Amino acid sequence: MILYINSCVRSDSRTDRLARAVLSKMGEYTELYLPDEGLVPLTEEALIKRTKLLSENDTSDEMFRYAKQFASADKIVISAPFWDGSFPSLLKVYIENIYAVGIVSRYDEKGIPVGMCRADELVYVTTAGGKYIPDFSYGYIKALAESCFGIKNTRLVMAEMLDIVGMDAEKILKEAIENI
Ligand SMILES: Cc1cc2nc3c(=O)[nH]c(=O)nc-3n(C[C@H](O)[C@H](O)[C@H](O)COP(=O)(O)O)c2cc1C
Repeated sequence: MILYINSCVRSDSRTDRLARAVLSKMGEYTELYLPDEGLVPLTEEALIKRTKLLSENDTSDEMFRYAKQFASADKIVISAPFWDGSFPSLLKVYIENIYAVGIVSRYDEKGIPVGMCRADELVYVTTAGGKYIPDFSYGYIKALAESCFGIKNTRLVMAEMLDIVGMDAEKILKEAIENI
């Protein structure tokens, strides 16, 4: 299963358009549209429940459905516009919700994360108003995927400078789509 994690909130999102061009080359996919999921940051109550269930190896609760879906995907595509040097906080909330030790990752005896995800590839798709700086967006997702989730290959597909006066945003986007 190809899992498309869509964190684009704008209805005419250019990031989503670029991501769907990537997906059209990959095949059938399941979309998780984060703005519709009602995700909330972890609360103390949720953390206590999660810790208890994971210590009992019980992952049957609904709260683990995103983690299980992520761990069982064959390929993952994430779309996220470049916001405030990073990505929408909704995507971070999603990551908080999926990062369940024992489902997507575990620790070895030295405290090093060992990935438990099935996916062999994660594609991160973004667009930026100005120059794209990957450090706190793609860089973070790549580090998580490779070092914690066990997803060996990560790729960046992006279009930048879309909001700069004098730039032809449509042309830049079309070129990015052609270059996929
Ligand atoms: C809340 C917000 C924060 C943004 N922050 C940045 C930024 O830090 N750097 C930048 O180059 N562009 C920034 N932009 C511009 C977007 O990256 C750009 O318009 C992008 O193409 C939007 O993607 P979308 O069409 O998929 O919504 C920001 C836009 C919004 C709405």
